[in-house]
Amino acid sequence: MTETTTAYDPWLRWIHWATAVLFIAAMLIGLYCGLQPAGTSPRRELLEVHKSLGITLFLLALLRVIVRARTMAPPAPATFSAAVRALSQLNHWALYALLLVMPVTGYMFSSAGGYSLRYFGTFSWPRLFAGDKAVAHAGEIAHDTLAYVVYLVVGLHIAATLWHEFVKKDETLARMWPRR
Ligand code: HEM
Ligand code: HEM
Repeated sequence: MTETTTAYDPWLRWIHWATAVLFIAAMLIGLYCGLQPAGTSPRRELLEVHKSLGITLFLLALLRVIVRARTMAPPAPATFSAAVRALSQLNHWALYALLLVMPVTGYMFSSAGGYSLRYFGTFSWPRLFAGDKAVAHAGEIAHDTLAYVVYLVVGLHIAATLWHEFVKKDETLARMWPRR
């Protein structure tokens, strides 16, 4: 049996854990900033970091979709029932969708709303929708609403991993762990 039939591709595993760290950081910073009044410090500075992390996550997600499409995903562990298999696939599809849609809606809001798009204090990304109030509004509503979906889907994903690792004691985490 080749390695790709029992675990995810090594590149995909590294991208997964880099994504996990950056995504959770972006999510927590976003959550904190959402609770602070607009225009205050450190909200302003932290939002710069949030946006830069979000754009990095978008680029990583594009790379990941390419790697995922070109490599074989391992079949679900034998211990998974049909329902668990379906739920885990649904959860993974939702995570991929959020990885692409959250940065796009955040970008729509910032680009059209005239806010800073400086990348980690270096260059600025182009504003494709400059001044378009409808795009800014749609981006803001979608980004803020989908934030609740993020908390739910990521929370379920992490809780399910902990359940499999410590209660079911199966190989779910090992399939994604960098060293086997
Ligand atoms: C995977 C990437 C991203 C995730 C998971 C994410 C998540 C979040 C979350 C959870 C919030 C808090 C929402 C609230 O409490 O109202 C937020 C706010 C925000 N995000 Fe993102 N975000 C991402 C990418 C981006 C990007 C790429 C940009 C811009 C280029 C951006 C711009 C913003 C802005 C401006 C806010 C403040 C919105 C407000 O206060 O109404 N985000 N984000
Ligand atoms: C501490 C945080 C995390 C842990 C412990 C974790 C754990 C895992 C594990 C064990 C798998 C393999 C599941 C299986 O094969 O059935 C997996 C897959 C996956 N994870 Fe995570 N994860 C975490 C965070 C995240 C985050 C933040 C995202 C994206 C926003 C994410 C996206 C995915 C996706 C899309 C898959 C499916 C594999 C693929 O097709 O790429 N994970 N995760």
